[in-house]
Amino acid sequence: MKGIVLAGGRATRLRPLTKITSKQLLPVYNKPMIFYPIETLIKAGIKDILIIIAPEYSGHFLNLLGSGKDFGAKFTYEIQEEPRGLADAFIVGENFIGNDSVAMILGDNIFDEDFSQIVANFKSGATVFAKEVSDPQRYGVIEFDENQNVLSIAEKPEQPKSNFAMVGLYVCDNKVSSLARNVQPSARGEIEITDVINQYKDKNELRVEFVKNIWEDAGTFDSLLRVNNYMAEKAKKESEKNE
Ligand code: DAU
Repeated sequence: MKGIVLAGGRATRLRPLTKITSKQLLPVYNKPMIFYPIETLIKAGIKDILIIIAPEYSGHFLNLLGSGKDFGAKFTYEIQEEPRGLADAFIVGENFIGNDSVAMILGDNIFDEDFSQIVANFKSGATVFAKEVSDPQRYGVIEFDENQNVLSIAEKPEQPKSNFAMVGLYVCDNKVSSLARNVQPSARGEIEITDVINQYKDKNELRVEFVKNIWEDAGTFDSLLRVNNYMAEKAKKESEKNE
């Protein structure tokens, strides 16, 4: 399986922090933010990784991450000229994906979880991940029936049908680029990831797994602060354990 880290976008919500740099280069405790999603993919056993970046700070990503050798991985880069939406990652990444399946992770999504079993057992369709949250209207929202079958997935609904967010990690088979090409831009002018995943749901090819440990979308001041504190605590506990 190949991996994609989607790390473009304009991050206007984090201004002025992002006025002269990219969100995914901001620090999260002792590392730039993008290290976390990269390390999540590598821990899951994925070493061939495409990093999609915006043109503005592309040189900074290259200087920081290089070939991937320091991570024991191989990095390829693509520029996304305009933030056309999350589903665009599968179009920009179409040649890179080739005949493989792909795990796409958002450059601002931070996990403390091992996805290696799910990746190793993945065969076809799509697997997405749910986490219970208190502010579901900020996210893609998954509605389940009493047997945990998916009833609906909606992007940032005003009246969420559940408290389960669909987090920013999507494991998809090789159909994903052609399914992304079917998607029309939404009212906010983006091709939405939910419209790709709904096509898998309509074909009965969608699985949902639950995230057990922390998950943060570090795209707001509060979530960025929370995840900094979490990683600082974690590092402290690990160094105490090693003393
Ligand atoms: O964090 C999980 C949520 O991420 C999901 O629950 C939603 O379904 C999904 O739409 C997304 O919502 P956000 O509002 O958080 O998306 P945002 O616009 O912040 O973009 C997520 C990341 O992807 C961010 O690091 C910037 C990057 N991005 C975004 C767009 C729209 C790109 O690289 N290119 C893009 O075109």
